[in-house]
Amino acid sequence: MKKSKLTTASGRPYCEYENSLTAGIRGPVLLQDYFLHEDMAHFNRERIPERVVHAKGTGAFGTFTVTHDIRMYTKAKLFSEIGKQTSLFARFSIVGGEKGGADSERDPRGFAIKFYTEDGNWDLVGNNTPVFFIKDPKKFSHFIHTQKRDPKTNCKSPTMMWDFFSLNPESLHQLIILMSDRGTPFSYRHMDGFGSHTFSMLNKKNERVWVKFHYKTGQGIKNFSRKEANSMKGADLDQAQRDLVDAIEKKDFPIWKLKIQVMTDAKAKKFHWNPFDLTKVWPHREFPLIEVGTIELNKIPENYFRDVEQAAFAPAHVVDGIGYSPDKVLQGRLLSYPDAQRYRLGANYEQIPVNKCPYAVNTYQRDGLMQTEENGGAKPNYGPNSFDAIVADGDYKELPLSLDSLTADFYDRNKTDRDHYTQPGNLYRDVMTSADKKNLADNIVSSMQGISGDKKNEIINRQLCHFSRIDSQLGNAIAKGLQFDIR
Ligand code: HEM
Repeated sequence: MKKSKLTTASGRPYCEYENSLTAGIRGPVLLQDYFLHEDMAHFNRERIPERVVHAKGTGAFGTFTVTHDIRMYTKAKLFSEIGKQTSLFARFSIVGGEKGGADSERDPRGFAIKFYTEDGNWDLVGNNTPVFFIKDPKKFSHFIHTQKRDPKTNCKSPTMMWDFFSLNPESLHQLIILMSDRGTPFSYRHMDGFGSHTFSMLNKKNERVWVKFHYKTGQGIKNFSRKEANSMKGADLDQAQRDLVDAIEKKDFPIWKLKIQVMTDAKAKKFHWNPFDLTKVWPHREFPLIEVGTIELNKIPENYFRDVEQAAFAPAHVVDGIGYSPDKVLQGRLLSYPDAQRYRLGANYEQIPVNKCPYAVNTYQRDGLMQTEENGGAKPNYGPNSFDAIVADGDYKELPLSLDSLTADFYDRNKTDRDHYTQPGNLYRDVMTSADKKNLADNIVSSMQGISGDKKNEIINRQLCHFSRIDSQLGNAIAKGLQFDIR
């Protein structure tokens, strides 16, 4: 191995890294041992704030290859021809736990992919579930507080969780998925992913359709039972991380098929549910999956902190041909992620290698902490100006969007949109096997048994009413397991 000289961070070759500079054999240590201070001070700053959610995760690089033509829906360059390949970075995560938490925890799994396209980075920041707990972004921080730790005991609290769920029946659809064995996937390789929100696509003729994105695992779905997941917590906290690293290092590269569902605007206006409601799916019978391409993960980053910890995904990152939708939660997320990343990584986080667009970036943004690039050099830092040739290209303008109403108000979604029960009921009756139904009820009973305090009966009663409205068989099975009479 070629030897290299030990240096300080400023590049001064240094003579000693094991023994401090002392006055005499027994000390004391001298203040002028700069290498010692530099090392200790840098060490003290090794930790950055963990992600406020999705703190524990793992990532890999890979490629996306187009296998089917969807140019009738989108002009996005990454889908421009069959066989075209685009590099990507994926990060999988657990939502509620801290960075040192267990991979086999009952929780949704994050499924975020950054595609490095010629028109900028496209981030699809999804989960392993097609729906979510809330349909208004105002509820997100409240919901997450109930999944984290009790302010007094600093313990996870089934009381807080079920109090929130029982007062927010819009959570039922996601809750049924979470409480089934799909809430404890065997590994990140063995689960599907979903963009979850409704997005839009725009083709060359400037025609817009609404779309949902799905990633179908090529490894097959595999879940832990509650018992297996609990015992894995004791055996290996990092099992899902290890599983992904081991598979890729053995060249057993995991794949997912990217598929989309498409809804025309005309159909959206007649759809029985709000097509922009994140707590609802679009039934596959009416909106069949259309195959687009294959995602393969084939490289584990050499340095976890550099690429995985510093990765910054944002639903706001779309590219020409892919757009947002009126989904309220998506709209809230457009603001939240870059804001979190400016706090977590600093204003220049887009310059970190894993986040950096490998194609041209021309902005008038300048300065800020940790500016490590040319910072625009001597070029003008304002526009318009008479000196440079940066132009705004009108070809990239999105088709204007007509809105339902121009009257701004706090519309009560529970007055206009209160069917929280039909879709979870369909999932329970039409998709789940008898074994799935039994495990679902058992998992819910096990979790609800943790509810305590003087509101216990009120919370249980309220939640049991919701479960019974999904399906009386489910409500009865849980009531029986809890030995509770619904009032
Ligand atoms: C209003 C709703 C939501 C808000 C305000 C929100 C906010 C956040 C924030 C602040 C982060 C940390 C970002 C960072 O530090 O880099 C995050 C991470 C994440 N969120 Fe959300 N979130 C919301 C809903 C959702 C939904 C609906 C999904 C999935 C469909 C989702 C998937 C993710 C994923 C996968 C990550 C981790 C990304 C990574 O691997 O770095 N979130 N979220």
